[in-house]
Amino acid sequence: MAKIGIFVGSSGGVTLGAAEKLKELFEDASLINMEEDYEDLEQFEEFDVLLIGSSTWGQGDPQRDWIDPLYEMENEKPDLSGKYVAFFGAGDQVTHGEHFVSALAKMKDVFTKLGADTEYGYTSTKGYEYKFSLAQRDGKFCGLAIDNINQEDLTNERVLNWAKQLKKEMGI
Ligand SMILES: Cc1cc2nc3c(=O)[nH]c(=O)nc-3n(C[C@H](O)[C@H](O)[C@H](O)COP(=O)(O)O)c2cc1C
Repeated sequence: MAKIGIFVGSSGGVTLGAAEKLKELFEDASLINMEEDYEDLEQFEEFDVLLIGSSTWGQGDPQRDWIDPLYEMENEKPDLSGKYVAFFGAGDQVTHGEHFVSALAKMKDVFTKLGADTEYGYTSTKGYEYKFSLAQRDGKFCGLAIDNINQEDLTNERVLNWAKQLKKEMGI
């Protein structure tokens, strides 16, 4: 059985809430809160599937607990080939619609460069209204976009559907 690691950086708890839901939906998955549980890059090696969560801050940047690990990844270049990776995270399409959930794309680019297979979990942009997002690739989000500030009522369903989609796409 595939070993699944859910790594999450969340300042206000929204992306963490989604991560906790994913942990329920993927039995035996491990949840690694980047603030409390992350130690070093070797933790990624323990898993076949990585679900990478981060909210977006600043000018479309990953949440603060991801800054050092991403920097280490770019420098130490761990080999992530063979790993299936998908991205999820919260943003705010109204107040921060100029960079809605852009962190998903910045994180995806780092993992892709290290050889990970990151073409999983793309979702439709239908039902969202924003000006710009780095995470929009080929007309889709390159992961799961959550907006608990403006569309809280849709969050649970979005997470459930995404988990179903990943199970199918990854065969897990
Ligand atoms: C100062 C500040 C900057 C933000 N920048 C962005 C942004 O660039 N893009 C975006 O989609 N959301 C942005 N947000 C919204 C947060 O991502 C949103 O509140 C999210 O729900 C936080 O998720 P978390 O609780 O998992 O950290 C910003 C919020 C604040 C307060």
